[in-house]
Amino acid sequence: MSRNPVTVPALQRRKVAGERITMLTCYDATFARLLDETDIDLLLVGDSLGMVIQGHDNTLPVTLEEAIYHTRAVARGSRNTHIVGDLPFLTYQASPEQAVMSAGRLLKEGGAASVKLEGGVEIVDSVRRCCQAGIPIMGHVGLTPQSVHKMGGFKVQGRGDEQAEKIYRDALALEEAGAFAVVLEGIPEELGQRITQELTIPTIGIGAGRHTDGQVLVIYDLLGLDRSFKPRFVRRYVEMGKMVIDAAQAYCDDVRDRSFPSAEEVFRKTG
Ligand code: KIV
Repeated sequence: MSRNPVTVPALQRRKVAGERITMLTCYDATFARLLDETDIDLLLVGDSLGMVIQGHDNTLPVTLEEAIYHTRAVARGSRNTHIVGDLPFLTYQASPEQAVMSAGRLLKEGGAASVKLEGGVEIVDSVRRCCQAGIPIMGHVGLTPQSVHKMGGFKVQGRGDEQAEKIYRDALALEEAGAFAVVLEGIPEELGQRITQELTIPTIGIGAGRHTDGQVLVIYDLLGLDRSFKPRFVRRYVEMGKMVIDAAQAYCDDVRDRSFPSAEEVFRKTG
């Protein structure tokens, strides 16, 4: 399937037209090539790579170099999809200058078309500066994994009125600063709906209910690759974890009983 990657203005038009937006995480060229054969809109090279690729308990250890490395790999595999790079912890919070330099590297060296960062009113100066520099910014509010220690774990945010109001204001502030979209993560459905109705930019939800303008999932969750992880908001479309285990076990059995390689799977002399 050959098509043009969706642009920032096209995403805005989708919101106006009420057309849903699809996003999945992606971390390497092989998956990018496969996903390029679907009509997915956006590939997010999320800092969730720290957990699903690197095996950390949270996303905090991911470095900018690692984010650029994975973004570049995805960019090599993808022709048809808009790639969103993700700024890791401590690569943008220190100052607007730091944010511009880090975000710029995801575009310049990683090949991303836009950049996501976490936070609300505290980071709007950085969002504004990045947008002024021509870097499209996707915000991320609600359950923000880089604040895992502040939140006391990966917990749903905005259940109480005060916290809900803060998340709502964060989303509005991001729009006002020039963000082109905002991820809403781990919040009650009613709050996701309210923010989606109030914002003129698209919202993309993960664990934020049914009313956001788009949805995002971590691809490994959708594929069932982590058999111990099944939160309520994830729909597993395939049990690939079990498929991998069964395939690897069958290979081991075949090598041990000498049925692999077979006569058809070997090279022979030509002369
Ligand atoms: O890093 C990530 O994968 C994310 C998504 C879950 C939105 O931020």
